[in-house]
This record gives sequence, C-alpha cells and structure tokens, in this order.
Amino acid sequence: MDILDIHSHLLPKVDDSHQSRLFYGRMMRSYAESGITGIVFTPHLDNPYVHTHRSMIQKTFEWATEKAEKEGLQTFLGSEYYVREQEKIDLIPLFGKYALCETFTDFMPKTYLDVLRRVRDRGYEIIIAHIERYRWLRPDDEVMRVLKEELGALIQVNAKGSMTREGKKYLSLGLVDFLASDNHGDRELAGLLVQQLGKYPEVAMKMCDFFAQEIE
Ligand SMILES: [Fe+2]
Repeated sequence: MDILDIHSHLLPKVDDSHQSRLFYGRMMRSYAESGITGIVFTPHLDNPYVHTHRSMIQKTFEWATEKAEKEGLQTFLGSEYYVREQEKIDLIPLFGKYALCETFTDFMPKTYLDVLRRVRDRGYEIIIAHIERYRWLRPDDEVMRVLKEELGALIQVNAKGSMTREGKKYLSLGLVDFLASDNHGDRELAGLLVQQLGKYPEVAMKMCDFFAQEIE
C-alpha cells in the first residue's frame, strides 16, 4: 500500500526549502521510518515571493532520487504553481497530469478562476494546495462550488493545517482529498502526516485509491 507525500519542498537550494544536502539523507530516513513510501517534490513555480532556480530542478531531483531510493522511497517530480495573473501556463505536473495550485492567502486575485480554467483547458487536473490557508475562502461559498463542481478540483490540506480550525472545517465536511506535509525541511513532519492520516482514515483511503491508480 502506497502512502505518498504529494507536496514538499525538499530539493536543496532549488526554492525556499531549508533542506540542506548534508541532512537530506536524514530527512529521507524520517520519511521511511514513518511509513511513507514516496515523496513528490513540488518546488514553487511563478511564486512572487520565492525565487526558484528552475534550471536546477531536474538535476537536483536526480540527485535526490538516488539518495531517497537508498531508503526505499519512491520519488516523483511535480511543482507548486502560484496562480496570479499569468498569461502563460508553465508548470511541472505531478504524475504527468495534476497541477498543484496555490495563490495569495489574503485575497483572491481577480483572475484566479480564469487562470484555473486555463490550467484545466491545458489538460491538467487541479489540486488546490493547503486550502485551509486561504482567508478569503469558505467551504460553503460560490468559489468553492466552482472549484469542486465546475473545475473538478481535488483538495489538499497540510498536516499542520489539519490541526487548525480552518483545516478541520474542510475535513469535517468531507471536502479533502489529500493531506500532505508542505515540508520545507522539518524532520517531524513525515511522522505528523502519518499521525494525522490515522485521525482521518477516510482521507487516507482516498489517497490509497488515488495512488493505486496513478503509480505503477
Ligand atoms: Fe508548498
């Protein structure tokens, strides 16, 4: 049975990850020991607050994969795409087709839904990253209806976010498809993710079904 962390920033010196190459092996061990079987690396793309060394992504991913495999972990490359007012959609999809999308936490950009529609029209399926962080969004409002019903978006909550009032609200309504770490370099987070999945077995089940479909 596969349990993957689908949202992480653990490629050293690629984006705002705190993860050093020196302690990367220990990070991978913390994942393996927690029972997680794989990691999707999702460096930020188009994030106005983070500089990502895009040309370093592939090479660093190859380096990171070699080390992760020593701990028995599968690795995958994706990205966390910042939705704002961009014309061009340029992202690295998870499992070849999923666009993990974030945006501003304080306000919804006017173009938010238009850009997401273009992401979908490019053939990507949308995963909304850490939905609990968006202060402008409520589980019962119209934007949420558009995300779920019109765009068919899947919803991700952070492991730490699942312990907050906002995260619990989305979870209690059955709106959540994934818990993930959004790990920038904290060795406690793999264990916390597994612990929180234990508290939300319906989400763990959804994730298992998803991974069974997506991973050979
Ligand atoms: Fe993230």
